[in-house]
Amino acid sequence: MIELYGKKLENFDDLPVLSETIIKLLALLDDINSTNKQIARIISLDVVLSAKIISLANSPLYASNKPVNDVLQAIMKLGRAEIKNMAMTIKFSSALKKIQLKNINLDMFWKHSLATAFLSNKLMKEYLDKKYYRAEQQSSFYIAGLLHDIGLLIFDILDPDKLEELEKIAERIKNNIAEVELNETKYIHSKEGEKLLKEMGLPESISYPVGYHHNSVDSKDYEGISAIVNISDVFASQFGYYPLQSVVYNHNIDEPIKLTSLSDLSDEDFKIAYDELKSATEMFISFAGLMLGSQ
Ligand SMILES: [Fe+2]
Ligand SMILES: [Fe+2]
Repeated sequence: MIELYGKKLENFDDLPVLSETIIKLLALLDDINSTNKQIARIISLDVVLSAKIISLANSPLYASNKPVNDVLQAIMKLGRAEIKNMAMTIKFSSALKKIQLKNINLDMFWKHSLATAFLSNKLMKEYLDKKYYRAEQQSSFYIAGLLHDIGLLIFDILDPDKLEELEKIAERIKNNIAEVELNETKYIHSKEGEKLLKEMGLPESISYPVGYHHNSVDSKDYEGISAIVNISDVFASQFGYYPLQSVVYNHNIDEPIKLTSLSDLSDEDFKIAYDELKSATEMFISFAGLMLGSQ
């Protein structure tokens, strides 16, 4: 049970983020004994999800000369990891469209989540030390990035006035919201998000890094994913995709960067890599906006 300032999130209907069906689908996609046909059958029960997966598979991002006509073909062409990320993105996008919040601008929040997910996946593939790359669930990087700030939604649902107050303090003292939360209350959105995802039944390789996205240096497990989500969160904000209107991002990410080959680059090469990440993120966000609509 998620509880904040004495108020309880009674059931997930208050936070229509992820349905049971999608959680089951994720488990099925991870199950090596499941067949692509079984997965296609489950996805096909959801008409909207199926249509969006097929149109994404045929979009310029995955374009090939062979058109995809059904879900089974999409799974075979893109692979399970990609289908998993796609299904989660589509479902998270439509869930966010159903809620209204007092403080959080959902379009901003959505872009911040998407940018963090995209960067997590890209940094994992291109820069993460191979030791962590091999040891950890590769498909968890994107989803942990996508859901990392889910705790902020809980804060805004359960006590919007408190969140507003915390945001004002963060702005005034020029500190990041996570530190302000911790100093002013006993709650921090990363930990509450982790609890929620655990209760929903998501694997630990996703929930744990969410709990450490503001302090990945303290993580004892899933260090690779935690560090990558930490860096991606900060990069996403530096690229202009903030989760909150007035958020201050003064995180020091030198330590998590040491887990990646970004730390081996000269200042000049780092700048080139950083600019490349920025333009790739911008392209992804505008593309996803076209495909999924804004919030
Ligand atoms: Fe956060
Ligand atoms: Fe964030």
